[in-house]
Amino acid sequence: MSAFESQYGESAPVRVIAPGRINLIGEHIDYLGGKVMPIAINRHLTVEAAPSNSGVVEIMPEGMDFTAPALIDLKSLERRTKPSESWMNYVIGVLSVYRDAGIQIPAFKATISSDLPTGAGLSSSAALETAIALVVEALSGVEQDVVDRALLCQRAEHEFAGVPCGIMDQLAVGAGKKGHALLLNCADLSTRQIPLPPELAIVTTDTRVKHALGDGEYKRRREDCDEILRRLDLNSFDELRKAGLETRIGELDEKLSRRARHAVSEFERVDQFAGALQSSDREALARLMRASHDSLRLDYEVSCPELDYLVASAYDLPEEFGVVGSRMTGGGFGGSTVTFVARDSAGAFCERQKKSFEEKFGRSPDSFITSAVDGAGVHAL
Ligand code: GLA
Repeated sequence: MSAFESQYGESAPVRVIAPGRINLIGEHIDYLGGKVMPIAINRHLTVEAAPSNSGVVEIMPEGMDFTAPALIDLKSLERRTKPSESWMNYVIGVLSVYRDAGIQIPAFKATISSDLPTGAGLSSSAALETAIALVVEALSGVEQDVVDRALLCQRAEHEFAGVPCGIMDQLAVGAGKKGHALLLNCADLSTRQIPLPPELAIVTTDTRVKHALGDGEYKRRREDCDEILRRLDLNSFDELRKAGLETRIGELDEKLSRRARHAVSEFERVDQFAGALQSSDREALARLMRASHDSLRLDYEVSCPELDYLVASAYDLPEEFGVVGSRMTGGGFGGSTVTFVARDSAGAFCERQKKSFEEKFGRSPDSFITSAVDGAGVHAL
């Protein structure tokens, strides 16, 4: 029985399935107009919904010990400030930006169920935003194009969750394609689907160290990058890249020069990685993922000991585990790593990562073989 059926005793006319995402490379440069390469993954959030005439949006999240659904009054779409209600801001935010875009928001009742962990760097927030957006579109009959929908969801996250995120997560959740990585140019939002090599598997390992990007460090990184452009009197990191970082780095203090070095070097790595993926060049994939992780750890300072341990121990494994390359994925400060391994050894690699993490930290991570799936969609009954 679905979550909606057990809550409301009837089946839902609208079911939206929205995947999470991992990012293969291009970290912390979406908001700088760089290229990124996420995939939509086989962990999902499902929202089932039915129109109602109650004048409110009534929404029941499964697995949160709620005894009654949360209620959102469509006449006052205000941001919630209580920590226990902070998840509702993703819903309220989307309803509010859609209303501002001139779409009449219908009253509905809904359930949320999910096997996508929150705070794991796997974009559960973008999945929830996108799912709510698709519910609103299905019930109002006004369909947005995938890029416009992602932009509306990003705005909801900025204004209601207080995270000044880039566009990667919302577009990955919306535009992912089975078996492919999405090469997304954040400067013009153009996309290209890159087939993943079938002989390699991707493993995601969630440290279960909860990250909270709203807590300020993410925003501080963005401010550092704004400051770099201000000091160098440039309009974009692409200009800095073209000018050559070494010609200008002397004008920055130590911290800002490290931030700039991460950004410019990560810009370069993405195109190289796309080429390496297409030719299955394992040596290049390994080198680029290692360099990306080190740059995030040392220059951008968004990693943490648990992520560093997982990455370092993956590279140290004997050949039989088939490790190609490993790095942290997503915003960092906790969350998950992504590792390319030979497909035949993926199961053994997952088990090995769990065991060695447990020995080191005394608690269990989650490690799973990750496939690239299609982006979010409506499955009407
Ligand atoms: C978070 C943000 C994204 C992106 C990543 C880092 O996931 O939501 O926009 O900046 O961090 O690459």
